Amino acid sequence: MSTPWHFLSLRDVDTTTWQDLLAQSEILSGPRGREPLLAGRRCGMVFFNPSLRTRTAFEVACGDLGAFAVNLQVGGGLWSLEHRDGVVMDGPHAEHVKEGFAVLARMVDALGLRSFASLADAKEDARDLVLRSAAAASSVPVLSLESAMDHPHQGLADALTVRRKVGERAKVVVTWAPHIKPLPLAVPHAATLAFAQEGHDVVIAHPHGFDLDAGVVADATAIAEAAGGSLSVTHERDAAFEGARVIYAKSWGARGYYGDAQRAAADVMAHPEWIVDGPAMDRTDGGIFMHCLPVRRGVVVADEVLDGPSSVVIDQAAARLDVQKATLCRAMGVTA
Ligand code: CP
Repeated sequence: MSTPWHFLSLRDVDTTTWQDLLAQSEILSGPRGREPLLAGRRCGMVFFNPSLRTRTAFEVACGDLGAFAVNLQVGGGLWSLEHRDGVVMDGPHAEHVKEGFAVLARMVDALGLRSFASLADAKEDARDLVLRSAAAASSVPVLSLESAMDHPHQGLADALTVRRKVGERAKVVVTWAPHIKPLPLAVPHAATLAFAQEGHDVVIAHPHGFDLDAGVVADATAIAEAAGGSLSVTHERDAAFEGARVIYAKSWGARGYYGDAQRAAADVMAHPEWIVDGPAMDRTDGGIFMHCLPVRRGVVVADEVLDGPSSVVIDQAAARLDVQKATLCRAMGVTA
């Protein structure tokens, strides 16, 4: 049996696949994306966490392409799933992903999985065990719908959006933003890797202590340089915004406080001046404002930016449908 094409992280995607996925996304954003290219195929989604965009994009993509989609919400009718190896299952989890995903893979042709980081142990999160265990157990392609470490469909949609809105190599700033609670690293990792794949000049801006995963940053640097771009990290937010064509805001927690909810929450609220507001956007070179959504108004970004002409967040979210169609087609060996 051949190994299925899993789409787990942008760190694993080679240039040819990356370019093909984006090209297919553009084709499938048009009339071809409403043809029954996946007629008779069956897809499953397993969500450990909530979603608005991702679930809708997956289900609508299946419907538009003629496939059937089943949605399974862990804790909402689906058995609670264990993913660790070698544990005695005398706790709350009734089924192991080894059996769960092996069974699902016998009933569907591709599986999507969402499983957020625990934010309790950075080393454990970096192993991305829920996603990796599920992929290992599945004989059909597994598509990450956001895991502890990456959100590859979001990254694809982000890259597609910048192609559509900017269309050339540009200074792209992935900037930390305040929040009321610590959030995972998956989205800033995905955005960084995606913009690196595109050969942009990527600047990651965050206060001291909010470093992204060093392995991801190293991989993204290598990818950016191979693609003709660059990657740098700064703690000087205002300087970073100077001359930027893209401002990509996201909140994330400091890994040094993982497992200490009170300190972690205090830490993400300790830098309110990092909110993206009008004066900050005025430093850019007519930059567009991006965020993966959902976003907290007045905390992450000021209304004047989110509601203003620089904001592309709705088009960015809509692009999730285009890239979802592309990954589903690729998973099932179909070219549009
Ligand atoms: N951006 C994103 O993944 O949105 P959802 O969490 O609503 O799916």
